[in-house]
Amino acid sequence: MTVTIVGAQLGDEGKGGIVDVFGEDADVVVRYQGGDNAGHTVVHDGEEFALSLIPSGIVRGKTGVLGNGCVVNPETLFEELDGLAERGLDPSLKLAARAHVILPYHRVLDGLEELAKGDELSAGTTGRGIGPTYEDKVGRRGVRIGDLLDAALLRTRLEYGLSRARRMVESFDADPDAARFEGAFDLEAVYERLVGLGERMAAAEMVVNCGEYLEARRADGARLMFEGAQGTLLDIDHGSYPYVTSSSPTAGGAAVGSGLGPGVIGEGSIVGIVKAYTSRVGTGPLPTELGHVEDQTPDGGGDRSELGSRLATQLRDAGGEYGTVTGRPRRVGWLDLPMLRHACRANGFTSIVVNHVDTMATFDRIEVGESYLLDGTELDTLPPTTERWARCEATYRTFEGWDREEFGPSMEMDYEGLPANARTYLEYIEAELGVPISAIGVGPKRRETIVRRSPWA
Ligand code: IMP
Repeated sequence: MTVTIVGAQLGDEGKGGIVDVFGEDADVVVRYQGGDNAGHTVVHDGEEFALSLIPSGIVRGKTGVLGNGCVVNPETLFEELDGLAERGLDPSLKLAARAHVILPYHRVLDGLEELAKGDELSAGTTGRGIGPTYEDKVGRRGVRIGDLLDAALLRTRLEYGLSRARRMVESFDADPDAARFEGAFDLEAVYERLVGLGERMAAAEMVVNCGEYLEARRADGARLMFEGAQGTLLDIDHGSYPYVTSSSPTAGGAAVGSGLGPGVIGEGSIVGIVKAYTSRVGTGPLPTELGHVEDQTPDGGGDRSELGSRLATQLRDAGGEYGTVTGRPRRVGWLDLPMLRHACRANGFTSIVVNHVDTMATFDRIEVGESYLLDGTELDTLPPTTERWARCEATYRTFEGWDREEFGPSMEMDYEGLPANARTYLEYIEAELGVPISAIGVGPKRRETIVRRSPWA
């Protein structure tokens, strides 16, 4: 049995908390795409763990797997594993031999490319080297985890990749040997370091043939959970290109990025995580945006009226929508159903979880973007180009909010215990999307997720 968890919007939907709740019944938690661009915080036994690469389930004693669709920075990998070991945990992690390695020069190229693109084209990346590593993968010049265990092969691959990366840096009018790049283009230094990291991986026996490993665990009756990072609208194919990440967070990515067939993923549950409103980090369209964020909201985007800005601040503060590392405000807006209809189709969700329902308890009235208007035509889902999406105007349906009094710690933690107006809002979403809601998040704690139906059932 498998459960695949996918972000239905633009990342930051609260996937970590749901992986935590549904992961309780999992034996293995697998990441199938992305790398250390996916910050998540897990609270276990009152202690907080901040991770960006390894699957959060590891903190609860599950086996974590980084699948072949991931890009792995080995420095981050060992920092996170050592950090957990120092705190008394004994993390169990397997690493796909086919996963690609983020090298120091990928991070440099990520930064240079973003600068060269300028405001209009840059995606506002996390700067972790994700895009350039996937570029090298598709360009058939990448270094894979398995190569780290074969020093001679590693050297051949690295020599080619690094010399090409040097030429790329020069094409940006920069000097690869400049001190600011901290030896990222120094072949001997990078090679020695990687050989050392490979030896550590070999000693820990963590490198596996991912698909084969997962199939064997499945045959033994293990329950597998696939943990998507980022979200559907950040998907390289189905997202708002070019303001996307370079991998496939959508459910299809779970098959390609793990080595199990699509039938295995499709036989299980595919759960879309929806936040009761919308947020976005970086630039790109957001038709239901309230207020605007300097340097992120595109020209002409957002509701810049006094009311729009006030509602944006209220939503941002109530939802804690500030970057965990930078503290920068995130862009926020009302729920966008055309975006969710697109996500339901692209992923084939068998159910959705609606998170942050507590955040909406601060509003007297709640709007939902029900459809779009584009050049006088009504659309119920996204147009296929980002430029057309940016020109869409949302049409709204208004709902009565729910009182803080009715909604809080004393509330019965079951569906019927929710205020009637909250249920009306949720049932409308369910009916519009044609997908059942399996759980509702009403707060950050574990017990604050109301589970209506387990995805393992
Ligand atoms: P990259 O993944 O670092 O290449 O960044 C590409 C785009 O994805 C940028 O707009 C990032 O802000 C966004 N992004 C990457 N990871 C996350 C995430 O975990 N949450 C939200 N946005 C993300």
